[in-house]
Amino acid sequence: MKYQEKHCWLCLLSLSLLLLFWLGHLIRDLLSPAGQSNGLRGYMRITPGKMDQVLHMHCSQCALVSSSGQMLGAGLGEEIDKVGCVIRMNNAPTQGYEKDVGNRTSIRVVSHTSVPLLVKNESYYFNQSAGTIYVFWGPERNMRQDGHGHTFNTLLKIAKKYANVKIYTVTREKIQYCDGVFQNETGKNRMKTGAFLSTGFFTMILAIDMCDSIHVYGMIDYNYCSRANHSVVPYHYYERNRLNECRMYHVHEHTQRGGHRFITEKAIYAKWATRHKMEFKHPSWSL
Ligand SMILES: *[C@@H]1O[C@H](CO)[C@@H](O)[C@H](O)[C@H]1NC(C)=O
Ligand SMILES: *[C@@H]1O[C@H](CO)[C@@H](O)[C@H](O)[C@H]1NC(C)=O
Ligand SMILES: *[C@@H]1O[C@H](CO)[C@@H](O)[C@H](O)[C@H]1NC(C)=O
Ligand SMILES: *[C@@H]1O[C@H](CO)[C@@H](O)[C@H](O)[C@H]1NC(C)=O
Ligand SMILES: *[C@@H]1O[C@H](CO)[C@@H](O)[C@H](O)[C@H]1NC(C)=O
Repeated sequence: MKYQEKHCWLCLLSLSLLLLFWLGHLIRDLLSPAGQSNGLRGYMRITPGKMDQVLHMHCSQCALVSSSGQMLGAGLGEEIDKVGCVIRMNNAPTQGYEKDVGNRTSIRVVSHTSVPLLVKNESYYFNQSAGTIYVFWGPERNMRQDGHGHTFNTLLKIAKKYANVKIYTVTREKIQYCDGVFQNETGKNRMKTGAFLSTGFFTMILAIDMCDSIHVYGMIDYNYCSRANHSVVPYHYYERNRLNECRMYHVHEHTQRGGHRFITEKAIYAKWATRHKMEFKHPSWSL
């Protein structure tokens, strides 16, 4: 009897140890920012049925191609095309700009405000470019899944129409996480400063989540516009007649409500570049 009791006690002990071990793994997976082993939990596929597929994407090398006018005449297309995964933003075209920006797109990170631009050319983006993965971000009011989020509703329609399309959304939790990152890095509450994070910011976070090393093309550093000899280029390489890049950045940085803090965000990237394998090319950053 005594022996049996002791035996049972040992059984219980080893069972609880096993349980603890398992829980430990579970918690580690839940907490790990990239969640490498189980895919990227911050990005959920939009499917007509149940939405429970996370993004499975991992690249050893990524080219993050900005939409900046810096890309015009850069002649970097061939170099970019050689990189395993090419990340672009919003509706930035490749056709007609291959020499400067390359011709492949592995992932496109798209703002809710750019959705109408993609829908206008829907067969090009969602049927002909079926190999591209789309990651959409937007505020909760547009992305809610209860039938009242108009951006989400549009994307769901697309997902129903094009069976092969790979459309993901940045989850609400991930967006909150990004706000937390901004607040940690700047000491300022993103919402209280009246600013929105830019598509570039979400794209950087995604690149850190899925790439071992990142080559960033066409992004200027946070001091660039205050240098007397800075070059004057369009804000977007595919829109020639808008405010130039530095004027646009200046307006956004100082607007009271609804701006993007492009310059502040660049200062944050400079910090990240010291912790991640990240190289800024054209213009190159000296860190
Ligand atoms: C991209 O460009 C390369 C070389 O210029 C060419 O061989 C390839 O066919 C192009 N790919 C696409 C998808 O256009
Ligand atoms: C759709 O996009 C492609 C590639 O950028 C472009 O060649 C085509 O003219 C666009 N079509 C429309 C209707 O805008
Ligand atoms: C997508 O493209 C294929 C091949 O070009 C075409 O047969 C099909 O009808 C297109 N799908 C939609 C929904 O437009
Ligand atoms: C922000 O910083 C706090 C304190 O260092 C940390 O616990 C938290 O995880 C950070 N949040 C993000 C989103 O980085
Ligand atoms: C501006 O001048 C600095 C310092 O001389 C130089 O490093 C930089 O390349 C110049 N920038 C441009 C865009 O010409």
